[in-house]
Amino acid sequence: MTHASISWNEAGEPMSEHFEDRYFSSDDGLLEARYVFLAHNNLAKRFSELAPYETITIGETGFGTGLNFLATWELFCKNAPATTHLHFLSAELYPLSHKDMSQALSRWTELSPLIEEFLSVYHGIHEGFQTLSLMEGRVTLTLMIGDVKQVIPKIKGEVDAWFLDGFAPSKNPEMWSDELFTLLAQKSRIGATLATFTSAGFVRRGLIRAGFEMQKDQGFGIKREMLFGVYAPDEAYLNRRLTRKERTENAPWFRYSDHLIKTRTSIVIGGGIAGATSAYLLAKRGFKVTLLEKNGEIAREGSGNPQGILYLKLSAHRTDQTRFLIEGFGYTLRLLKMLTAEGKLVEGTDWAQSGVLQLSYSEKEVKRNHNLDEAFNDALLYGVSSEKGSAITNIEVNHEGLFFPESGWVKPRRFCEALLDHPNITLITDCEVLSLSKIPSKETSQDTSRATSKSSQHHWKVITQSAHGENAFEAETVVLANATESTMLYQTAELPLKNIRGQVTYLPETPESQSLKSVICSDGYISPAADGMHCIGATFNFERSDRALSKAEHAQNLTMLKTASGPLYHALNADHYPLETLQGRTAFRSTSPDYLPIVGPVPHFERFMIDYAVIEKDANNIPNTLCTFHKGLFINAGHGSRGLITAPLSAKLLLDHIEKNTFSVERDLVEACHPARFYIRMLRFPKRHDNPPKNHQDKEM
Ligand SMILES: Cc1cc2nc3c(=O)[nH]c(=O)nc-3n(C[C@H](O)[C@H](O)[C@H](O)COP(=O)(O)OP(=O)(O)OC[C@H]3O[C@@H](n4cnc5c(N)ncnc54)[C@H](O)[C@@H]3O)c2cc1C
Ligand SMILES: C[S@@+](CC[C@H](N)C(=O)[O-])C[C@H]1O[C@@H](n2cnc3c(N)ncnc32)[C@H](O)[C@@H]1O
Repeated sequence: MTHASISWNEAGEPMSEHFEDRYFSSDDGLLEARYVFLAHNNLAKRFSELAPYETITIGETGFGTGLNFLATWELFCKNAPATTHLHFLSAELYPLSHKDMSQALSRWTELSPLIEEFLSVYHGIHEGFQTLSLMEGRVTLTLMIGDVKQVIPKIKGEVDAWFLDGFAPSKNPEMWSDELFTLLAQKSRIGATLATFTSAGFVRRGLIRAGFEMQKDQGFGIKREMLFGVYAPDEAYLNRRLTRKERTENAPWFRYSDHLIKTRTSIVIGGGIAGATSAYLLAKRGFKVTLLEKNGEIAREGSGNPQGILYLKLSAHRTDQTRFLIEGFGYTLRLLKMLTAEGKLVEGTDWAQSGVLQLSYSEKEVKRNHNLDEAFNDALLYGVSSEKGSAITNIEVNHEGLFFPESGWVKPRRFCEALLDHPNITLITDCEVLSLSKIPSKETSQDTSRATSKSSQHHWKVITQSAHGENAFEAETVVLANATESTMLYQTAELPLKNIRGQVTYLPETPESQSLKSVICSDGYISPAADGMHCIGATFNFERSDRALSKAEHAQNLTMLKTASGPLYHALNADHYPLETLQGRTAFRSTSPDYLPIVGPVPHFERFMIDYAVIEKDANNIPNTLCTFHKGLFINAGHGSRGLITAPLSAKLLLDHIEKNTFSVERDLVEACHPARFYIRMLRFPKRHDNPPKNHQDKEM
């Protein structure tokens, strides 16, 4: 990713050096945005007519300074009913740096409160889909960072209105090609509208060929004419035979579940970071959430370490894991900043953007880190010598490495507490979930979802156990966020989650160790002290499943510390403590076979195996049968060793599944995290699964 190169003209307006063009009209950019894009997509009326909890989705080519977005947000505030949601997706190849963005927007004083909120979370913007949550979750901005023709196909879902706002066609032809118009059409809801400032004949003809009915109107300012239109493809196009690529992309098991949202009641099982972020996002969208946690307090399992690191273990090949980590990192960072601005977290005490230094502690790591330095932008990471690394961390380190300037550490428990501090969330601890079953629903109210088929009413009944005996809770939606223990439930018993034990070691801070400013990672990590302790870890033990502290694992952590920084090892008197006296903690990472989390609606396993059995013989034969899901049952689990980065974005991804929104995560990543991926792999590669499917009774549908 490259930031925009901006110069400023005599009027103080931003100009693109890449394209030698202006970002907005010299007459009045804000008035132009309102006239061209808002009025010609009829947004004031459409916003005011949204049903309760409905989402309207707007797509834009060219985010630039975000002026169109801010004008849209302002109009949405004025016109849309209180519970509705705006999702604005915008493609941008060269995002402005935070400094340039602040300067570019400073002229629009009438939008100041919105600009201030936007700038407070315009951080962690790197490649891929970067999602910003604004106005208490009522506005979602998904910045699709990359070339427009690469990012538009990654949208999963449909768009209701388009803003075409590249630079002038003569200077920026990639933003005005027939190929792009076809891509826009593919992502348009039938009846989607479109507007653009240009009236170029080839743009009008290209959009007509793609299926839009186009009209001209008077242009803004000095421009004579502009174009607007509506997506109305002909019957022949709609009835065409899908290509093989389209059929694979629309595989039935990756489509929305056909649940309906009627009562906005939900139960979240598990009070770790996955449960807390899921509950938080649901609560913000008006769900009454009951969070059930088996322990006496939240965040006592995987999310129970005193400190966790926002550490990005990346691959220069941009694997699915790498892309999910980069997108998740930005999302977590913005969430932490938002909770801090709301006064729910204190920066420096509950979390810190201290930077993370990843040391190249072996020849293999030197090569890997050089490749990463080449592959990614300096805003995300950059290479440093051991001298420079020592200067940054303020402690002598033994190796060169990579520095992640925006990263840092978090107290996971405080993070969870801050997320659960919401009036729509009821926390019930000491409450272990034993089973789930479906019961007929008592209530019916207005249906605002975009369900495609008629669905029977249902509720989930959740049976729990506590010191006072068994109890039952009911809700329409249930989210399983109880890590590997989700596989104890009948509905998710076939999901391949496994625990991997890890241990951290605590060492008391010393006057010398207090100088450590950043997190240092080698094959483990050491963080600046919090509450008088340094947290050093963590081991991976694939053999043990008990929780007892292990001397051998303490020794491993101390060796890691010595490898990273001899002086820090000595400053902490690490060789003075007998191993059996060391304090620490063990916990389990819940891990899936492909190391991606499991996020989405839960398919009905036996039905899946019957409905798609033909795939076992012919992988390309994809039946048209709709996938049967356990309606209203969702999972957010399997966050392995990176839950602080992956769980919050997964919660957003899950909310998109639940509300049937156009996703704020790239299509292939939505599918790479989908629970159904494992069932389809069982059919495609049956021999790879040594655990044959269990034969459950079909208890509910
Ligand atoms: C030693 C170690 C070090 C780590 N270091 C880092 C790090 O530096 N950075 C990072 O990003 N990640 C780190 N991780 C990983 C990270 O901690 C996890 O990915 C994350 O905590 C997972 O969160 P979770 O909510 O999915 O699971 P958990 O935090 O385990 O939460 C699951 C919750 O469900 C509850 N539960 C289970 N069954 C039931 C039931 N039947 N009824 C009710 N409640 C139930 C549990 O009690 C628990 O509270 C580390 C993990 C370990 C073990
Ligand atoms: C006219 S500006 C957009 C102005 C913007 N809508 C606003 O409100 O400020 C055009 C934007 O398109 C971006 N752009 C140009 N070519 C692109 C491409 N191939 N893919 C994605 N974005 C591109 C430019 O970097 C620039 O930010």
